Order: sequence, then structure tokens, then C-alpha cells
Amino acid sequence: MSESAATTESAIAEAAALLRASSHAVALTGAGLSAESGIPTYRGTGGVWTRFGEPTIDGWDLFCTDPGAWWREALDHSHAGSEFAESIDRAVPNAGHIAMAELERMGRLAHIITQNIDNLHEDAGSRAVTEIHGNRRRVRCMNCGTRDRLDLISLDRLPPTCPECGGILKNDTVMFGEPIPDDALRMCYRQAAAADLFLVVGTSAVVYPAASFPILARERGAPLIEINPEPTELSHIASIVVRASAGSALPDIVELLRR
Ligand code: APR
Repeated sequence: MSESAATTESAIAEAAALLRASSHAVALTGAGLSAESGIPTYRGTGGVWTRFGEPTIDGWDLFCTDPGAWWREALDHSHAGSEFAESIDRAVPNAGHIAMAELERMGRLAHIITQNIDNLHEDAGSRAVTEIHGNRRRVRCMNCGTRDRLDLISLDRLPPTCPECGGILKNDTVMFGEPIPDDALRMCYRQAAAADLFLVVGTSAVVYPAASFPILARERGAPLIEINPEPTELSHIASIVVRASAGSALPDIVELLRR
């Protein structure tokens, strides 16, 4: 066995041991977890932002100025980058998502904070999930905050309006410049405060406030496990680093915990 394989194997064994000893493990997940489901990541080689450039910071302002125009543009699938949207729509959970749902069922993972908008944690069976950047399959009312399934909303008139209060509906995904919804943010801080172990899976950890939650938990003394084939902004504070893909490392951890 090569040295790096031996290192990864022992890191996976240490991670499983920490999960076995933990009573409230929390995970932060990012685009890298969904990469093996065919959804490109944002940064790095082949990343969406690398290829098409980051969206303008005023996306939220543009939406607030003319939500009808935003919806017309969003429903027009001919623009560059829509293949990204299509890759999300046809994606299914991979072994990494399925392993995390299994960790929840085993009582080894208390909560997932995901930056992903693809609904794949829920599709895999995870239930304790906070989507800090929203969910592409849902809409959210700008007035009362009600969330609904996008496919149940009439798009005959744009912008669509809230069945509860008549307010304007936007896609639930959080735009650049848009504040993170309060309910999601409160749950993230609660989980960071309760965590006695924090997993960071498939994220470059450059976007805030998402990247702050593992740091808060680490500062409170919770060990941090990083699962990522590449170094990240948090590698220097990680207790254990598993330099492997999520789709291979997480099922191995589940397997060790089953024994
Ligand atoms: N398994 C685990 N990690 C992987 C894999 C894999 N198979 N493939 C890639 N990665 C890692 C990369 O090494 C990188 O560190 O996933 C990370 C992806 O980083 P980003 O593309 O920056 O994605 P993310 O961290 O989720 O971005 C955060 O930025 O633009 C915003 O709203 C967007 O939610 C997103 C946020």
C-alpha cells in the first residue's frame, strides 16, 4: 500500500473513532460533495465561476428592482451557464450523500449545514439539514418567508405571488448580495454551538458566513475533520485531514462504524 493510501486509511479510522465518541456531530458540506453526481464545483479547474465568471454582486438589487424581469430571464434557458442548472436538475445522490444519510440514521451525525442548492441530501434520505444558500427546487416569499415547491407554483403571471400573503416569490436560492434568511442562520449558529465534532466535506471554505461555523465550533474545542482531495482555507485548523473524495471516504467511515 502506498504511503498516501496508508495515511488516508489511518485518517479514515481516526475519523470513525471520533464519530463513534461524539454525541453531537455536525457537518458543513459544499459543491465537492455533489461533484460525483455530475454537478461542477464553483472554483478550481472546470468550476462554474472559473468558466463563466462569478455572478455580479448586484444580483439581489436587480431582483428587488424588477422581479418580473428576473423571472423571465431565469425561465429562459438559453443563456450561458444554464447547463449548470441542467446538471443540478438531472443529478442524483452519490455514495457520499447516501453515507451521510446513513450516519444520521445510525445516530452518528446530528445535523448537516449545506451550501448546496441541489436537494441531494434530502433525496438521499437526510432529514436534519439546513440549506444556508437555499434550494433550487423551492421558492420563498419575500414578505412572509413561506417556502414552497417551485413545481407547485403557477408561473402564468410573473413575478409569481405567495399563496399565503400575496407577497412576491423569489427562487429560494440565496443570491449574491442577499442576506441569508434568519431561520437558516439561527439554526446554523445553534448547531455550531452544540457541536462536539465538526466535519467539513467538499468545500473550499472561502464563503462566509458558512465557513465561520466550523471555526466557531473549533474555537469551542470541537475536533474538526476535513474530507477533501485538496487543501482548503480550514486545513490548518483541522484535527484530521482525509485527502480523498467524499464518495470514497464517507462510505469507508460508515463501514468502520458498522463493525
Ligand atoms: N469530494 C470532496 N471534495 C471535493 C471533490 C470530491 N469528489 N471534488 C472537489 N472537491 C473539493 C474541491 O477541492 C474544493 O475544495 O470541493 C471544493 C469545492 O469548492 P468550491 O467550488 O469553492 O465550492 P463551495 O466551497 O461549495 O462554494 C461555496 O460559494 O459561490 C458560492 O454559493 C456558492 O455555495 C457556494 C459557495
